[in-house]
Amino acid sequence: MKDFISLHDCTKEELEQLLKLAISLKKETKEGREHHLLKGKTLGMIFTKSSTRTRVSFEVGMTQLGGYPLFLSSNDIQLGRGETIYDTAKVLERYLDGIMIRTFAHSDVLELAEHADIPVINALTDLLHPCQVLADLQTIYEHKGKLEGLKFAYIGDGNNMAHSIMYGCGKMGLDCSIATPKGYAPLDEVCQNAKEDFKKSGASLVICEDPVEAIRDADIVYTDTWVSMGQEAEKAERIKIFMPYQVNKELFAHAKDDAVFMHCLPAYRDFEVTPDVIDGKNSIIFDEAENRLHAQKAIMATLMG
Ligand code: CP
Ligand code: NVA
Repeated sequence: MKDFISLHDCTKEELEQLLKLAISLKKETKEGREHHLLKGKTLGMIFTKSSTRTRVSFEVGMTQLGGYPLFLSSNDIQLGRGETIYDTAKVLERYLDGIMIRTFAHSDVLELAEHADIPVINALTDLLHPCQVLADLQTIYEHKGKLEGLKFAYIGDGNNMAHSIMYGCGKMGLDCSIATPKGYAPLDEVCQNAKEDFKKSGASLVICEDPVEAIRDADIVYTDTWVSMGQEAEKAERIKIFMPYQVNKELFAHAKDDAVFMHCLPAYRDFEVTPDVIDGKNSIIFDEAENRLHAQKAIMATLMG
């Protein structure tokens, strides 16, 4: 593994290794044991979109690994003024040991990884959010004691989160049901790729428009914002279309009694989820947010160590 760009590119064994390492680094951190696996190494962090969790967890994670995180806002680097991705890659590889990037076009991340001789980590594109789903799998494993055979329901927009969830479930053998409004289903190309993963693991993939069908007997219920970064102009229209997909108490009641509620955050209460669900006893959103730190440390230690 040179880069971490899509869960579809990883093998099940590679993901299992990352999860195992994430869990052991978490334990060591809780026990106050240092693990300077990246002593003297520097991670460049390119952001062309906002972030709370990703920025803080990568910076803290790199520090805990004994390395140095370098925040590179696109407003401040020449990439934002039109320098090519190729030149940026060739220059940054001379200084850095790894690059983390959050941006709009997924093709920009692929281009950066193609030309940079150092690891590139995808910290969210319009297409995928693999770091989030690795942390989510860790969180599910910690709460349920297994991954294989669980039913994962995703309700809402067929966006970057839905795409990475499909890849994650397909690789690790969770049955996955996705309900979106008409016209907002996950991209065909991602569904086709995911189907290969589901075929291999033997788990099932259902993509439908009925949230009740998707959530029925689910072990995990997941939603995300209806208005992703870059879609702000569509906000009013999206809220109208997505309202029937709100994860509220009535809808959540169709899941298993011990179902967990998850959300990558940031969340918008009374839109995609109501407070009684996201702030209720089944919600594990802050364990999930914490695990961004541990899962990404595992990614960085594996790629840059
Ligand atoms: N979930 C997530 O990626 O959060 P941020 O946008 O705050 O990084
Ligand atoms: N789908 C959301 C995820 C945020 C972490 C977005 O892309 O804005």
